Amino acid sequence: MVEDAALAATVSEHIIEQGWAGYQPAQHGIWRQLFERQAKLLPGRACEAYLRGLDKLAIAADGIPDFERLSDLLEADTGWRLVAVPGLVPDDVFFYLLAKRRFPTTNWIRKPAQLDYLQEPDVFHDLFGHVPLLTDPVFADYLQAYGRGGLKALRLGALPKLARLYWYTVEFGLIETPEGLRIYGAGILSSFEESRYCLESRKPNRLPFDLLRIMRTRYRIDDLQDVYFVIESFEQLFEATRPDFTAHYRHLTHQADIHPGELLPGEVALDIAA
Ligand code: PHE
Ligand code: FE
Repeated sequence: MVEDAALAATVSEHIIEQGWAGYQPAQHGIWRQLFERQAKLLPGRACEAYLRGLDKLAIAADGIPDFERLSDLLEADTGWRLVAVPGLVPDDVFFYLLAKRRFPTTNWIRKPAQLDYLQEPDVFHDLFGHVPLLTDPVFADYLQAYGRGGLKALRLGALPKLARLYWYTVEFGLIETPEGLRIYGAGILSSFEESRYCLESRKPNRLPFDLLRIMRTRYRIDDLQDVYFVIESFEQLFEATRPDFTAHYRHLTHQADIHPGELLPGEVALDIAA
């Protein structure tokens, strides 16, 4: 495992201290503003597992959480911990951390002028958006499996395909529940506008989860999504992604990409109640 040791060394170069004591009152204030806005919106829109996780981890309006305190609660639950990073980390570092059940969490918070949309993750997106679901045992295993799959996809030159799976599940996933359609994707959960749009707008297509279809579908990072994929359960997601993707990647090299807003012949978008 020589390679693994080299990667481990690179990883430690990207991890920093959160510096919790250094946040200014105004920065905690931005957290509070964002938190309160989403907390009003998400009951009845976010999936139960997510809302339960917020509660279990005592993520609240008070201010930016202390990663160490939060990690102790989370580790006791599903074995995950947060590690602080200054921003996006290289792909191999990201996957390595996920494979070790370490969630890289950006430590800075957006400026007042950026309350509504950021292209780069900050602590509100990473922590409020992603961390609560890590208390769900099946989702927690899925994200670790994704990390291992990422390292493999890098070796196979298939990362662009696999990245779409992350995008359309971990970031922008919807889940069907007996009470109706709910959000589990962090990119939606941390966005004021998208958390209503994804459920209520007639504009985007909502399609049933389909692994190969997702890996062919491009995505946009600069606007609300044109398509969402709907899972039935985290078990479905975990089981569908468990097989070796090597053959899928080979197959996909002969398949054309699909535009985000495009429906293939025969595809029917799910209906939402008017
Ligand atoms: N089963 C995938 C592979 O062999 C790994 C994976 C698991 C990818 C879960 C994504 C999510 O590459
Ligand atoms: Fe994210």
